[in-house]
Amino acid sequence: MSAQLIEGKKISDSIREEIILEVEKLKQKGVTPGLVVILVGEDPASQVYVRNKAKACEQLGYYSEVVRLPAESTEQELLQLIERYNGQDNVHGILVQLPLPKHIHEKAIIDAISVHKDVDGFHPESVGNLMIGDDALLPCTPSGVIELLKRTGNDPAGKHAVVIGRSNIVGKPVSMLLLRENATVTICHSRTPNLPEMASQADILVVAVGVAKLVKKEWVKPGAVVIDVGMNRLPDGKLCGDVDFDDVLNVAGWVTPVPGGVGPMTITMLMANTLKSAQRSLS
Ligand code: GUN
Repeated sequence: MSAQLIEGKKISDSIREEIILEVEKLKQKGVTPGLVVILVGEDPASQVYVRNKAKACEQLGYYSEVVRLPAESTEQELLQLIERYNGQDNVHGILVQLPLPKHIHEKAIIDAISVHKDVDGFHPESVGNLMIGDDALLPCTPSGVIELLKRTGNDPAGKHAVVIGRSNIVGKPVSMLLLRENATVTICHSRTPNLPEMASQADILVVAVGVAKLVKKEWVKPGAVVIDVGMNRLPDGKLCGDVDFDDVLNVAGWVTPVPGGVGPMTITMLMANTLKSAQRSLS
């Protein structure tokens, strides 16, 4: 039997509808969620991401600013800009698009963003709050993965979740979130022996390694939920994930397509974080 598709676009659309209702309520209290996106330099992929974030703000009725700085801007200039937005009440979220030019220290920039406005969830205090279980702003792609699971009736509680990948942006935080949702979590990575065997023990398999079509049907337990966070470009220009979608389709119970699975969730969770930050500004 063919796996059920986890339709990220549809789920993302329904979350956006929920957000719009909350934004209306907030506006009646005199607050409009505000997001500032800062882009340094002209990386083409980053320009597309930033445009999409601004578009989402427009769709949901947020206040938004996109600040485009030349690639030669200094770290000091960027820090001053962040300081200004940290103190600006109409801005509830600050996102500095990564990667930054090499002469700017990413850590110094992330550390400078107020933890209350850290809608990426990358600040060390946000990461600490995630570990402790405090109600932090959560990193967007990992929280998108959890939403996909919950909204398809795949509650992680009591399940064995295997995460392949240990990045700070996806692997580690998604593992921590799955643990918070009461899954039993195994984290695998490039030095894990018997990767296919480990993966095949998963009820929920999350893959975030950046290797096109790494995961084959032998890696998947029959009926498992397969979440593919990968986004790779093949030599023919087509996009594909870290999972060999066609190969696993007749083994998995559920699977995310690429594109159209996890991808659409990331910006939506960014919008949800900005809303949350705006709601908190009232309390
Ligand atoms: N560059 C690629 N993805 C992201 C992201 O989620 N946040 C930021 N700040 N930069 C990125």
